[in-house]
Amino acid sequence: MKLSSRITQITGGGSDGWSVHYRALALKAAGTPVTLLSMGEHDTRTDPSILAAMDASARGGNTGYSPVPGFPSLRKAVAARIAGQTGVPTGPENVIILPGGQAALFAAHHAACDPGDRAVYIDPYYATYPGTIRAVGAVPHAVMAHADNGFQPLRADLDIATRGAKSLLINSPNNPTGAIYSDDTLQDIADVCRTNDLWLISDEVYDTQVWEGRHVSPRALPGMAERTLVVNSLSKSHAMTGSRVGWVCGPAEVISAMHNLATHNTYGVAGFVQDAALFALGQGSAAEEAVAAPFRRRRQIVMDSLAGQNLVRPAPISGAMYAMLDVRATGMSGEDFANALLDAERIGVMPGESFGAGGAGHIRVAMTVADDMLADALRRIAGFAGTLAR
Ligand SMILES: Cc1ncc(COP(=O)(O)O)c(C=O)c1O
Repeated sequence: MKLSSRITQITGGGSDGWSVHYRALALKAAGTPVTLLSMGEHDTRTDPSILAAMDASARGGNTGYSPVPGFPSLRKAVAARIAGQTGVPTGPENVIILPGGQAALFAAHHAACDPGDRAVYIDPYYATYPGTIRAVGAVPHAVMAHADNGFQPLRADLDIATRGAKSLLINSPNNPTGAIYSDDTLQDIADVCRTNDLWLISDEVYDTQVWEGRHVSPRALPGMAERTLVVNSLSKSHAMTGSRVGWVCGPAEVISAMHNLATHNTYGVAGFVQDAALFALGQGSAAEEAVAAPFRRRRQIVMDSLAGQNLVRPAPISGAMYAMLDVRATGMSGEDFANALLDAERIGVMPGESFGAGGAGHIRVAMTVADDMLADALRRIAGFAGTLAR
């Protein structure tokens, strides 16, 4: 039987850029010690107090269907958090609870784009972006954010790419680059969206991981609340990747349309997970800072470990849990470097090219292993680059 083209075209064909990672996993499974720096997931688990709240909720009987758009209490808590952070009036009617940031990205594009519409995203990009756009029948179109411009997209490039488009997807703090968009970049993005009547889909899943500068949600910029769909989740902020709980925040009429989508798709998020999320949010910013603290510390470890040499240069790590390392001085592509590094040093990293052409000549290191292991791996990466230069 023939599958629909919508489902077969999601991946877009070609290499998915994960081959080095899979090779590293296979080596590890075969018993070879490998340092894996390719996983975008905390090396700590969900806090036991959150698990206790989840357990109490489930044992208290909260195992049935829950309201499709989320518990009013959780929608209210998310809205209050957003209003507190941004100053934009936000109520529960502006929030729908969904099973994670990825489901929120899908719902946001579903709401914004008709089949055949052009949906713009910034390259380097989080792995699922083009596939998510294709999954709703829209046509992905990349705008390059150049390493030499701190991975900030340029106004001129945005202008060209967004003419005639329906939506623009941004991610700040950014995976994979660690960039945080400057006030000027965000002003340009907002301006381009207003001028071209675009939906802005703002993926803010790393908003609690800010090391330098400040995170500004573009929904707070003039004239943007009516055209911005903010995507977020508790995956990164509370080390709750496996709980699958996130949201979209946007205009009430969009949220109510997404309610229809969720009714025919996810049919809500488990009630005990929502109760755990409500508890987690209730712990306030101190709990979020505790989850983020290892990455703040390791960002410094990356810079210290790579100081005093010029072959492996970290891009500024302003936010998120990744370091993008420029290996262009070795003369190798990111992919060749990553493969050779795995062979020589048994260290698994992501080639920059797996995040799009904008990541060429880079490797991405996830700062998701213990401090001493990270420091050791980085010194070996720099040492390995030195052997190439000889
Ligand atoms: C930029 C970005 N957006 C969205 C997601 C998906 O997050 P979630 O686990 O909430 O689905 C990730 C996960 O790594 C991510 O890096």
